[in-house]
Amino acid sequence: MKNTLDKFNRPVRDLRISVTDRCNFRCTYCMPKEVYGESFKFLPRKELLDFNEIERIAQTFAKLGVNKIRITGGEPLVRKIIEELIQKLSNISGIEDIAMTTNGYLLESKLDSLKQSGLNRITVSLDSIDSKTFKKMSGQNFEVEKVLSAIKSANDKGFKNLKINCVVQKNVNEHSILDLLDYFRDSGNIVRFIEYMDVGNLNGWELKDVISIKEILEIIESKYKVKKLNENYQGEVAKRYILEDYSAEFGFISSVSQPFCSTCTRARITMDGKLVTCLFANSGIDLRKPIREGCSSEELDQIIKDVWIKRKDQYSEIRHELTKSNYKKIEMFQIGG
Ligand code: GTP
Ligand code: 5AD
Ligand code: SF4
Ligand code: SF4
Repeated sequence: MKNTLDKFNRPVRDLRISVTDRCNFRCTYCMPKEVYGESFKFLPRKELLDFNEIERIAQTFAKLGVNKIRITGGEPLVRKIIEELIQKLSNISGIEDIAMTTNGYLLESKLDSLKQSGLNRITVSLDSIDSKTFKKMSGQNFEVEKVLSAIKSANDKGFKNLKINCVVQKNVNEHSILDLLDYFRDSGNIVRFIEYMDVGNLNGWELKDVISIKEILEIIESKYKVKKLNENYQGEVAKRYILEDYSAEFGFISSVSQPFCSTCTRARITMDGKLVTCLFANSGIDLRKPIREGCSSEELDQIIKDVWIKRKDQYSEIRHELTKSNYKKIEMFQIGG
């Protein structure tokens, strides 16, 4: 099982599990308020995978060679007792690293229980530390201080080197680039700047709104001298840099200007149990149905293995052809980035 490769010889190493489609934020580039307002119907609870079902899927992926799991959403901390799931996942043989991507708003009071459950790492999505831009981009009248305070407490409680993900949009938050770098210098936390991507169908993405990593680097170099760092592992999503005085590591995620599909070892599970083999896929393979119909673990292993063997996704490399053809994608909040 462990040597299962897809059509481009890529193994599966990283499983990203979305545990809910709900979120307390309404980021303009992900769940714009005009679309996901009061009357929008999220999935009813019975449609979501329960924790035992997620555990079964993760066990199969561990057999296929996955050693790293990321819990995402929506916002994973709106799912009740998420710690129970993390506990289950951390007991699976072969799983060495469990991370969570959160917007950080509900994080502070959960830090102790998350730590106890076996969560290893936290990534916080944070596009700005200035209150006005934070409110604008997150689509809510929330206080950014609450997120900053959670990050500080996380560091104090032993979650070191948090990753801070910032989506950069032209004429919206360019100023966040230096603000965030300055703010997180000497904290050990790593800010990563993400090129605004054409995920989903509803954020009105246009190439003109993207600031490429080349431009972001120019902004950083207007203030700091920087050095490039080597990859931590083959196929790492972010390109790593450090300020020359070693006071801060930072990174870039360049899916638009420099795609990284050739080394993509990531599989994604939606909150309702679809296996999705690319962030930009238009559909997934339903695992919930066979599981609820009582399939054996061997059968589940076979279903998942068959999907991986046939995988030939490379969306970011061929984006231009697909954007022309009105290609319909899964929304980002359903697969969690
Ligand atoms: P580490 O495990 O810490 O290396 O994290 P990571 O960089 O793999 O994960 P993270 O979720 O922090 O990824 C950051 C962002 O990069 C995501 O939110 C997405 O926006 C983007 N991203 C991650 N994986 C992919 C991918 O496979 N394709 C594309 N196009 N973008 C991705
Ligand atoms: N472009 C780039 N990144 C995005 N994210 C969500 N939507 C987009 C987009 N359109 C990021 C969030 C978060 C992660 C889950 O994905 O900021 O860090
Ligand atoms: Fe919620 Fe994250 Fe989407 Fe923002 S990007 S709306 S925090 S799921
Ligand atoms: Fe992987 Fe698809 Fe992202 Fe390419 S676009 S890196 S294949 S998830």
